[in-house]
Amino acid sequence: MTRNDEVRTELPGMDTASLAAPLGPTGRPLRAFPVPAALKQHGPAKIVALCNQKGGVGKTTTSINLGAALAEYGRRVLAIDFDPQGALSAGLGAQTHDVTTIYDLLLNRHADVQEAIQTTGVPGLDIIPANIDLSAAEVHLVNEVAREQILAGVLRKVSADYDVILIDCQPSLGILTVNALTASHGVLIPLECEYFALRGVALLIETIDKVRERLNPAIELDGILATMYDSRTLHSREVLERVVDAFGDRVLETVISRTVKFPDASVAATPITQFAPEHQAAEAYRQLARELIFRGAVA
Ligand SMILES: Nc1ncnc2c1ncn2[C@@H]1O[C@H](COP(=O)(O)OP(=O)(O)O)[C@@H](O)[C@H]1O
Ligand SMILES: [Mg+2]
Repeated sequence: MTRNDEVRTELPGMDTASLAAPLGPTGRPLRAFPVPAALKQHGPAKIVALCNQKGGVGKTTTSINLGAALAEYGRRVLAIDFDPQGALSAGLGAQTHDVTTIYDLLLNRHADVQEAIQTTGVPGLDIIPANIDLSAAEVHLVNEVAREQILAGVLRKVSADYDVILIDCQPSLGILTVNALTASHGVLIPLECEYFALRGVALLIETIDKVRERLNPAIELDGILATMYDSRTLHSREVLERVVDAFGDRVLETVISRTVKFPDASVAATPITQFAPEHQAAEAYRQLARELIFRGAVA
């Protein structure tokens, strides 16, 4: 039922056009998601993988800023850097050398998970870092018993301490990403508003379906997040329209606009919510946090 239908049933005979809320960028009426109530108790964590085998679509930027926004709302958040490039670690100012990383936890089941956790400049947001060592993990895991379930085993040890665990995946659909999907309750797919954005999404969704069938029956698609949207270009608007045509309500109402503030914030190794707290991009990530809580994807 559309919003207009609701209005019509509630208020027969009234001019519905004048009551309709303005449309947001995804073509649905704009709405404000409520500020979530504080949690009375914490954990166990909802685990969400940020996944897209295309690089440069906003996975890491979303992990950092969604994590920071959820932490602002009092959620205890753990971000996992699951990309050997270590961009999440850099973006949150984590140490990556001479420390325990996610690689150590995957390869050595006796490694101490608590030792790998670092705090960040954002109260309530912790991180397990990665560095280039992780690029060797695919090769090492090939011969492991239950190799797809290793990350799930690691996260089980800390799930009680957090409300949300975000896994920043690398741009591939290899064993590491399958580990992330196997460990997760939900997947968030950032999608850049560019031509060819949809290329590869079918394969990603097929991979998620296979993981659901074979490894993790509970996994859900939490949503598709349009990123790097530029409302001034017809191009961006057309791409978003095609994404909504293809995926309907699975496309989140929150849309992240393109702004140079993100690269600036990365250089400062700070989430945009702290770097430019009043900027509309910071507000967009707060809205994303509220929408995901509203939809029940996270607590
Ligand atoms: N909404 C945005 N507007 C402008 N630049 C962005 C935006 N989101 C991300 N970026 C920049 O684009 C690049 C790729 O983003 P990133 O989050 O690292 O993608 P991924 O993790 O999917 O490879 C980074 O330099 C980042 O700062
Ligand atoms: Mg990345």
